[in-house]
Amino acid sequence: MARIIDGKGIAEVIRKEMKDEVALLTKEGRAPGLAVILVGDDPASKTYVGSKERAARELGIYSKVIRREAGISQDELIGLIRELNEDRNIDGILVQLPLPAHIDEKAIIEAIDPGKDVDGFHPVNTGRLFNSQVDVPRFEPCTPLGIMELLEREGIEIEGKKAVVVGRSNIVGKPIACLLLEKNATVTICHSRTRELAKETAQADILVAAVGKPAFIDGSMVKEGVIAIDVGINRVDGKLVGDLDFPSVEKKSSYITPVPGGVGPMTIAMLMKNTIKARKYHGV
Ligand code: GUN
Repeated sequence: MARIIDGKGIAEVIRKEMKDEVALLTKEGRAPGLAVILVGDDPASKTYVGSKERAARELGIYSKVIRREAGISQDELIGLIRELNEDRNIDGILVQLPLPAHIDEKAIIEAIDPGKDVDGFHPVNTGRLFNSQVDVPRFEPCTPLGIMELLEREGIEIEGKKAVVVGRSNIVGKPIACLLLEKNATVTICHSRTRELAKETAQADILVAAVGKPAFIDGSMVKEGVIAIDVGINRVDGKLVGDLDFPSVEKKSSYITPVPGGVGPMTIAMLMKNTIKARKYHGV
């Protein structure tokens, strides 16, 4: 019988802890500050940004959403980021992705002060993760960080386990592989060109599914006792479906995250955690 990891409940516990921390920092002289830039009017991006703003406000984090038309030039956007880099009330800067096609996302991410990069996407931060630099300020991407937090809070030992990550994105696949490796897992990264995928996934003690294909991995592809982490958020007939075929994978799992209510709620909680970390780094 699988234990279903209650990401929603765990995120709620973390929010309570953070609320106290934000109150203390505010009393010390300044609330943590988060700026979110939203370009254009993509409905999904608007929803995400709304959730981020609400989460920040609920914790007492000073939050500012800056909306710009889809036609904004790359230079104007970089100018705006530079202003926020200098703003002493802002600890974290997040540019909601995707950006319109005429804007180079990499150039935008690189314009953000790495010390304010609460998404953990800047090459300085990804480089520090890649190099296992734990003794310097470093921001990790929110979804992988949320997965690590779930594993830790469930008391799941990582060291020596075989972890298989399906998906090699810069936002989830690659950084979660680095974080698991840092905790001494033996890590395999699979992707669309992997041969005999089921043979790889069947080796996993910890399986992270981050491919963005509904019910892509089923029970026949995993071993008995697997810890199954589902990062997928796929909309099928108006319903949210993960990358795991939940009913068949659950039967063989020791732990499994549901969709919705698993990894998803942790992502925004970790964005708040990174914003608090940035505030501590910047001081009053
Ligand atoms: N769009 C989808 N996910 C994310 C994210 O984690 N950060 C940003 N900035 N944009 C996104």
